[in-house]
Amino acid sequence: MLSNIARRIRRKRFTPKEVIEGYDNDELSETIFRKTIAYHPTGEWPLVAGVDTVIEFGGGCGLHYKLAAQQTPTIRWAVVETTPMVLRALELATDNLKFFTDIAAAADWLGQVELVHANGAIQYTPAPLDTVRQLCAVRPPTMIWYRVPITTGSMKQEVRSSFLSHHGRGHCLRRVKKS
Ligand SMILES: C[S@@+](CC[C@H](N)C(=O)[O-])C[C@H]1O[C@@H](n2cnc3c(N)ncnc32)[C@H](O)[C@@H]1O
Repeated sequence: MLSNIARRIRRKRFTPKEVIEGYDNDELSETIFRKTIAYHPTGEWPLVAGVDTVIEFGGGCGLHYKLAAQQTPTIRWAVVETTPMVLRALELATDNLKFFTDIAAAADWLGQVELVHANGAIQYTPAPLDTVRQLCAVRPPTMIWYRVPITTGSMKQEVRSSFLSHHGRGHCLRRVKKS
């Protein structure tokens, strides 16, 4: 409670010196890259139990893969991301985890796609409905979208503002060791 109040006061008094617009950004990608290396998830993920191939749209540097791979080390995971994020994340790629800027290329690599997963990402693309069409064109047996606003009415654009440090899970370390 007290720390929340202190945080709010700090935000009011110390406004950001710079504003980044959109996700296509090197600094944002670097922040998420470092946080992903430092992120050590625990627990189970029933959704991906028994699944072998996944496309994750907007999967950053592979944070969700880290949890999935603990459960199923052989799972193959294709993250589709922005160009800066893919370039930064390439260092983390393995035989089972790859990064793409294109949904069809991700599907080609996997062969058969069992699950398409997106968590709070589709709405940030330049053309969300095209993105939805491309994801549907993969025709996976299961498609899961979390945190995506959906309407049967007309679409309305909104601007979401957040602190750089709030992107990615866990803490942003200045110096991190690759695990
Ligand atoms: C709110 S973050 C969610 C990240 C992650 N899915 C999670 O659950 O923490 C939105 C993600 O969508 C990605 N994104 C934004 N525009 C994109 C695009 N055109 N293509 C692919 N990913 C995109 C961002 O780079 C970012 O990683």
